[in-house]
Order: sequence, then structure tokens, then C-alpha cells
Amino acid sequence: MLTSLRSKRPQGGEAAAITLHALNLPPGIEEIIITPGELAKAIRRMARAIARDYAGGQVVLVGVLKGAVFVTADLARALAEVPDGPTDVQLDFIGVSSYGNSHRSSGEVRLVQDTSHAMEGRHIVIVEDIIDNGHTLHYLLAMLGNRKPASLRAAVLLDKPYRRAVDVHVDYIGLTCPDEFVVGYGLDYQERYRTLPYLAKLRPDVLPA
Ligand code: PRP
Repeated sequence: MLTSLRSKRPQGGEAAAITLHALNLPPGIEEIIITPGELAKAIRRMARAIARDYAGGQVVLVGVLKGAVFVTADLARALAEVPDGPTDVQLDFIGVSSYGNSHRSSGEVRLVQDTSHAMEGRHIVIVEDIIDNGHTLHYLLAMLGNRKPASLRAAVLLDKPYRRAVDVHVDYIGLTCPDEFVVGYGLDYQERYRTLPYLAKLRPDVLPA
């Protein structure tokens, strides 16, 4: 739908495309709160900071499934475009779940899929789509920290600092996320909406009271 609307658009930038798209929001979506362009800009900023810190060296981006699949891919490509960044960038993934199909975190983090390679002696950056109460990242930093990596940092696209229940240090932050239940760009509600190219607010009547 977005493609066909864009192709009908004679001229104009992203704002025009978003306005057109907003008229055709998927069912359950109230509004777009962070555009694809704003997300891309934040990811390029994070990539520049990571490139500086690992210049000339090696780094493994460990994406946290499933939410961080898009940010991990886009961050890796943005990193490749920064001149004088790391010379060896590798990808791995880890799967955890704390929300299940609910919109509220249980606080109990479960490992559902481990990394495919050993982390010992490697420079690791955990890549997350969002940090909310912080339990997930806290768990991952402790777990991967126990595997004797050469270094361990965390990169998070969307931060909800006002929701933190545990103290977690995040090295690279993309954007502060509004205090809404957001979906899109990897974030789901009951496994839906992950593939939206923007961050959107769900209509309140979609969520249980
Ligand atoms: C989401 C998100 C983070 C975590 C952050 O994952 O992707 O991993 O919650 O929340 P926290 O800071 O409150 O712990 P979720 O458990 O929903 O799994 P998913 O990535 O598969 O959607």
C-alpha cells in the first residue's frame, strides 16, 4: 500500500508520503509517532558512535530476537557505511521473551534461543529495539558478561527511561520513546505490527483494560 501511494505521489519528501500513508493506517493503529526517516537518522547516529569506539577493530552485534531484528540489520548496514569504523563486524542473535503475548512485562526473562557462536574474547554489542523496565537487558548483560567477552556494551534504539525498574547502563541510545504502547519497526502486539516501517501508537481499545 505504501509503495503504491508513493508511486502516485508526484513529488515531495517523506512528510508527504507519511501524510498519504496516515490516511491508510492498518486497523488498530491510531497514529505514527516516529517516522521511518527519524528512525533511520537515529540509527545512523548510533552507528557513528559505535564506529568511533571500535575503529580498526572487531565487534559482534548481538541482536535480541525478535524485536531487534530490523534495528540490528539496519545498524549493521549503517555501520558499514561509516568510514574508518571497525574492520570486522559480525552478527549473532539471541532470543529472549518476557512479555509473551501480553502487553505487560512479567519481569521474568526467559532465554528461548542462544547465540550461535561463543562470546569469549570477543567485543560484543547487544542490540535492542526498546528498553522499558530494563529486566531484559539486565538479564542479557549479566548472562553474556559471564561468558568472558573482551568487552560488552549495549545499544538500544528506543528508551523509556521513566519506566525503569532495574538500573541498567546503556552505551548507545537512539531516541527517547513516548510513554505509549508502541508497535512497528520490530515491536509487536500479540505478534502483529512488527513489519510496519514506522513506530506507531496502538488504538487504546485494542489493548485490554
Ligand atoms: C521486548 C523488547 C525487549 C524487551 C524490553 O521484547 O524487544 O527485548 O521487551 O522490555 P524490558 O526493558 O521491560 O525488559 P519481548 O519480550 O516483547 O519479545 P520480542 O522481542 O520477541 O517481541
